[in-house]
Amino acid sequence: MKKLWEGRFSEDTDRLVEEFTASISFDKRLYKYDIMGSIAHCKMLGRCGILNKEETKKIVNGLENIEKEIEEGEFEFDTGLEDIHMNIEKRLIDEIGDPGGKLHTGRSRNDQVALDMRLYLRDEIQEIIKGIKELKRSIIRIAKKNVDTIMPGYTHLQRAQPVLVSHHFLAYFEMLDRDEERFKDSLKRINVMPLGSAALAGTSLPIDRDYVASLLNFPKITTNSIDSVSDRDFTIEFCAAASILMMHLSRLSEELILWSSSEFNFIEIGDSFCTGSSIMPQKKNPDVPELVRGKTGKIYGNLFSLLTMMKSLPLAYNRDMQEDKRPLFDTVDTVKASLNIYSRLLKEIKLKKDEMSNAASKGFTTATDMSDYLVKKGLPFRETHKIVGEIVKYCINKNKRFEDLGLKKMKEFSDLFEDDIFRYIKVENSINGKMSKGGTSGKEVLKRIAEIE
Ligand code: ARG
Repeated sequence: MKKLWEGRFSEDTDRLVEEFTASISFDKRLYKYDIMGSIAHCKMLGRCGILNKEETKKIVNGLENIEKEIEEGEFEFDTGLEDIHMNIEKRLIDEIGDPGGKLHTGRSRNDQVALDMRLYLRDEIQEIIKGIKELKRSIIRIAKKNVDTIMPGYTHLQRAQPVLVSHHFLAYFEMLDRDEERFKDSLKRINVMPLGSAALAGTSLPIDRDYVASLLNFPKITTNSIDSVSDRDFTIEFCAAASILMMHLSRLSEELILWSSSEFNFIEIGDSFCTGSSIMPQKKNPDVPELVRGKTGKIYGNLFSLLTMMKSLPLAYNRDMQEDKRPLFDTVDTVKASLNIYSRLLKEIKLKKDEMSNAASKGFTTATDMSDYLVKKGLPFRETHKIVGEIVKYCINKNKRFEDLGLKKMKEFSDLFEDDIFRYIKVENSINGKMSKGGTSGKEVLKRIAEIE
């Protein structure tokens, strides 16, 4: 196979080296962006008088035909041509002859690949943001349907205080909201145009980088040619944002898995979103959230793979950087698939409201309210904490709930207790008492829902 860079070489490339160095099997997915970038580059060369009109037209047409060929599955990708950039360029030269050989004027594959990656990620991030928005909507739907559904809130996975189910789900809304913001913010740094940095030093040819940027809709161009070809921060940042998003989905998954167990028995996941066991006939397994939780590890791995790949690279471009593609593509695919299935999954979940609210009234979840009651009567918090602790101990020993103790018994612990204590520690009242901003009271939760909408 003739190489585009064969001039300096007297021997053919070893077959094994060809296979080892090639990236075409995975970077072919950049074809659309590679062609888009090349067309913009070519138009710029034409405008700057580096190519004549005829050449410009031939190249643009040639590239458009190649795009069609690829889309129709008629393009033959060649490992001997290493990557998507040279596969397309070689095809162009074969098709239109001499003018094709002028396309690469004033650029290098180093700035070309940086451009392709930015164009690719810019598109994919929009898809991911759409996915996050959709999932946020699913969460709001659940929150709105459950403004008076009660569940135990947990700390240390021990029942802590009663909360509204909507408040619990809205916690995930907040996480996803930050995720969306993170992706949007990273877009600012992705959306910078590197082409024209050439190999690393820029070019002596009279090119117009700003024109390329305007053709490709970039608000700005990179400002240092060395940095332009050696920077992969934007891929790392993307993978970091993706890792945080997946961590959130993984936490939600963990809860759904726990909640669907007989031990919790809080939810039922629809049959169409579960799978069975090949041996135990009674099983119905929550595989979808399990797999999202499982894939999260791989997404962290991808982030680490990029960070580690970059950490010792001298400036500027190094071939190591070709290894950024698979982790990045895998992250994009996994995040998109997880978001997509999650929006559906949430629609398949049935909450067992009675079980949830039953659980909320067990485990002395209103002990803090009882303590607050005494605080309101003027006792120092540390003292009230101790008194209520003693009441809890008494109840555990006697196998009683707070409600089973009469006022007389309560007064043995503190004579500040009055009849209204039993109303005060009702689960509903406990929740509605949490009126502090951002608290779980119905009023606060409805306020947040209204704000979001
Ligand atoms: N396939 C290469 C990559 O992904 C393109 C850049 C190659 N540049 C070079 N000087 N060999 O990084």
